[in-house]
Amino acid sequence: MNPLLTDAQKSGERVGLKSDSIIINGGKPLNGSIEVRGAKNLATKAMVAVLLGETPSLLKDVPDISDVQVVRGLLEVYGVKVSNPAHGQLSFDTSNVESAHFAEIDAHAGASRIPILFCGPLLHRLGEARIPDLGGCRIGDRPIDFHLDALRAFGAVVEKKFEGIFLTAPNGLTGANIELPYPSVGATEQVLLTAVRASGVTELKNAAIEPEIMDLIAILQKMGAIISVEPNRVILIEGVDRLEGYTHRALFDRNEVASWASAALVTKGDIFVRGARQSEMMTFLNVFRKVGGAFDVQEDGIRFWHPGGELKPVTIETDVHPGFMTDWQQPLIVALTQAHGESFVHETVYENRFGFADALNEMGANIVVHKSGLPNHPRRVARRDFEQAAVITGPTPLHGANIYVPDLRGGFSHLIAALSAEGQSVISNMGIISRGYEHIIDKLEALGADFVYEG
Ligand code: EPZ
Repeated sequence: MNPLLTDAQKSGERVGLKSDSIIINGGKPLNGSIEVRGAKNLATKAMVAVLLGETPSLLKDVPDISDVQVVRGLLEVYGVKVSNPAHGQLSFDTSNVESAHFAEIDAHAGASRIPILFCGPLLHRLGEARIPDLGGCRIGDRPIDFHLDALRAFGAVVEKKFEGIFLTAPNGLTGANIELPYPSVGATEQVLLTAVRASGVTELKNAAIEPEIMDLIAILQKMGAIISVEPNRVILIEGVDRLEGYTHRALFDRNEVASWASAALVTKGDIFVRGARQSEMMTFLNVFRKVGGAFDVQEDGIRFWHPGGELKPVTIETDVHPGFMTDWQQPLIVALTQAHGESFVHETVYENRFGFADALNEMGANIVVHKSGLPNHPRRVARRDFEQAAVITGPTPLHGANIYVPDLRGGFSHLIAALSAEGQSVISNMGIISRGYEHIIDKLEALGADFVYEG
């Protein structure tokens, strides 16, 4: 029995959980079928794009997560009428977009980074934008210098004040030649959402080309934008005078698929993830197979299971698309704690993305994080003075623990570690997980997890 639990929790009775906590009895494989819907990291951006359209928009397969609620609240603060015409759908009427008071903006910004993407659309619609301090997972300092430099290149005037950032465009926004120091997803989205209505042509170099970016480009093209993705991460955008609304079904959530695939491996289970598609997951599928997982690509999803036998150690380096996504390493590392041998994970996108390893080590894992990366490992992103690596030595049986969830993807890793561990765990601050994983409790129930939750 886990010594960290209180007497009430040890008794295992249905205790009045502190809000937002879950008691998990580990060691049971997750078996069953769940559905993954629209990607958190596309749907929220598609919602911002509605501000650019003169006519209504309809977004389908919208996940029911708090990040979507934050953006919905912000849009409504600016006068957008948002409604739910059907399950998983949001419709937007932008006929009356108006300025908002800073206090209202701040109240709705929540722990999200999405508000920074409102800059371009609001400058086009209102001639000004006010952005509060940003939230989002604490996985590094998450600067926005690329965003602000790009907006200045379009002709925006950026003022940083105590309460946030104030932008105006006294001479309007004109197309620019922008080269990103790093293929930043957010900065690429910032440029796209600003350039489509700027006058003239924008050339963006060293752009991010993640599937979520391509899906946003598809949405903007439906609205009337002229965007071409050239070879070598160059994107050309010809500004147009008017954009209409769109109807679009959001791309599925690759990060959630990778999370449940790792959960199947960690708990020795068998999970069918409805809505998953192979083409956007190929890099992950290769690594999943090398570790010893089995998968079967079907028409309406992908089945992931642990085929028995030993899991094998791997060396992976996170990268921009089409490399191994930084969001996939946290859940996979939990599986690597059960692999026979030493695995190496080089995190080259964020500077603090192994914070979740401490709790796994408390549960019995053997993960050593190297702040300065590993010796004689070629520095891929020269300009960054960090490059972290984790060395995971397995197999190490995991036992239950009391865990406080630090961030979205790390939190999911704690969840699946607790589900596979021997004994009971208490996980608190589950709200962070529901920021990005739709109906997580229902899904755990559907997969036969043994837990008590009173949210
Ligand atoms: C997006 O974050 C995703 N979030 C992240 O997913 C994802 O991990 C990341 O892209 C990389 O794929 C959303 O889309 C909401 P970046 P973003 O700009 O846009 C540095 C999740 O769990 N940088 O590509 O913020 C930055 O510090 C989240 O769903 C600057 O230096 O990521 C980071 O080291 C976690 N200056 C690197 O670039 C800037 O102005 C990549 O950041 C912007 C970024």
